[in-house]
Amino acid sequence: MKKLIISFLSLALFAVTAQAQQPLPHWKKQGDATQLIVDGRPMILLAGELGNSSASSVGDIGRIFPKLRSMGLNTVLVPAYWDLIEAEEGKFDFSLVDEVIRQARQNELKVVLLWFGAWKNSMSCYAPLWFKKDCKKYPRCLTREGKPLEIASPFSENVFQADSRAFERLMRHVAETDSREHTVIMVQVENEIGMLEEARDCSEQADRLFAAPVPEALMEYLKDNKKTLHPWMLDRWQKAGGKTEGSWQEVFGPDIYTDEIFMAWHYAAYVERMIRKGREAYNLPMYVNAAMNSRGCKPGEYPAAGPLAHLIDVWRCAAPSVDLLAPDLYDSGFKNWTAQYRLPNNPLFIPEIRLESNDGVRAFYVFGEHDGIGFSPFSIEGAPDAPDYPLAKSYRVLSELMPLIVKYQGKGDMRGLLFDQQDKERTISWDKNTTLVCRHFFTLPWDARATDGSRWPEGGGLVIRLAEDEYIVAGSGIVVEFKHPDELSAQVSRQLGEDGFATAGGNETGKAVWNGGERIGLGPVDEVSVNPDGTLKYVRRFNGDQTHQGRHVRIGVDDFSILHVKLYRYE
Ligand code: DGJ
Repeated sequence: MKKLIISFLSLALFAVTAQAQQPLPHWKKQGDATQLIVDGRPMILLAGELGNSSASSVGDIGRIFPKLRSMGLNTVLVPAYWDLIEAEEGKFDFSLVDEVIRQARQNELKVVLLWFGAWKNSMSCYAPLWFKKDCKKYPRCLTREGKPLEIASPFSENVFQADSRAFERLMRHVAETDSREHTVIMVQVENEIGMLEEARDCSEQADRLFAAPVPEALMEYLKDNKKTLHPWMLDRWQKAGGKTEGSWQEVFGPDIYTDEIFMAWHYAAYVERMIRKGREAYNLPMYVNAAMNSRGCKPGEYPAAGPLAHLIDVWRCAAPSVDLLAPDLYDSGFKNWTAQYRLPNNPLFIPEIRLESNDGVRAFYVFGEHDGIGFSPFSIEGAPDAPDYPLAKSYRVLSELMPLIVKYQGKGDMRGLLFDQQDKERTISWDKNTTLVCRHFFTLPWDARATDGSRWPEGGGLVIRLAEDEYIVAGSGIVVEFKHPDELSAQVSRQLGEDGFATAGGNETGKAVWNGGERIGLGPVDEVSVNPDGTLKYVRRFNGDQTHQGRHVRIGVDDFSILHVKLYRYE
């Protein structure tokens, strides 16, 4: 018995030591992807962000977290509120953060903390009252007319000292309470920084800096990275004469967008200092987020100067310690924004997206197309607590797929699919003998919703090329045909009914030619689940009607599943 207890204790000790030896969450390159490594393994964040006021009471935190777990999240984004942490100057209370960590552990969730410090959606509403009231010591940005805004000045050393002291204390506290368990895996610094009402601060100090030369570091950066600059930035600089020195207006032109570039430089420089100070206490991955300008507004009408797509170069140069710049996606242009933020030096993370029923398929697209590291609908606690809610279904399947997704990130053998009624087809060719024709499920006209005037729900997923003629197709609302490219060009396209009969009066396009050559047929198509080691487990065989008698593979709009497809060839 004694022996048994001793060996049990040494086993437990070994387990604790093994865990303690895991490095802190960090980044690792794999091919052209950047992976987030947590507890020694790459992780994709199947996440959600809490509504702004949902982590301000212990009771709410306790009520919300179990629901997140049952929805299949592995990570939650939670605000850390400066006004509640330092309600009295110099006295720090981390009880809410402690409760977040405790509840997260209990519900097997990881946490991304959001520092709601000097700025939240441009404003300084989360600064403590003692800070807000003392605007002599903690000055505000001013409009052109001299009106003070509720936006703390990024030029003020006092603002920086107060904000960064509290942030540093937070990081120190997390280090003291969590450096062994790594429940907190990443930190967002501030929230949607940006100027509103005015594109730049018009205080005396700001005016002085605005008249001074553009910092040499930015000029060097523009010159050294000319080939990869954001097209907007390159265009502005070139149109203003491509100068390599001069004042902000001389280098970038005399309009409001130059005000924005100037402010972006100073906000980013501030954040760089915040991150350095925070990391001295605890070295976690850190990022910043931005509200997109999807509505055609001018700087100051949208939060100007944040880490917006067109300002990525300025932010990268002034804040090299920021691990990633992240888009918050609430309006149109999903595919466009995701493409602009997936860069060789910027892994894609979506910290906020409007909570909608299409989030499930969009998550697939982010991971499949862009090697994304995470996806996180906003106000997640408001989602229906139902197992068939699309995001819950999607996260269950993505969680199973995670070992395969992280194995294939950055290697070029994975693609994402996302379709709607306008953008409904995409072809993929990994080699010269195979083309995948991928479409929205409703391009098959057999479901009444495809043709009765209903708005098509988005369909999407991912495809992984496991080997020659062997694929994973996963997601929802998609149909994939595998064709030899020669056959595609010589194809007669005739619309077929579900039973294979040509539809009466159906369109026929193309000319019936055949020059010989190879055709591709479906071998076994199996619905599978994925074991934690990445191996596949048979669930059921799809054949007959379920593959349209061998013509395609498909996943209906209301299902989320994983298909393992093998092809064969015949002549
Ligand atoms: C974006 C912000 O980052 C969130 O904190 C929240 O205010 C949402 N907008 C509201 O829709």
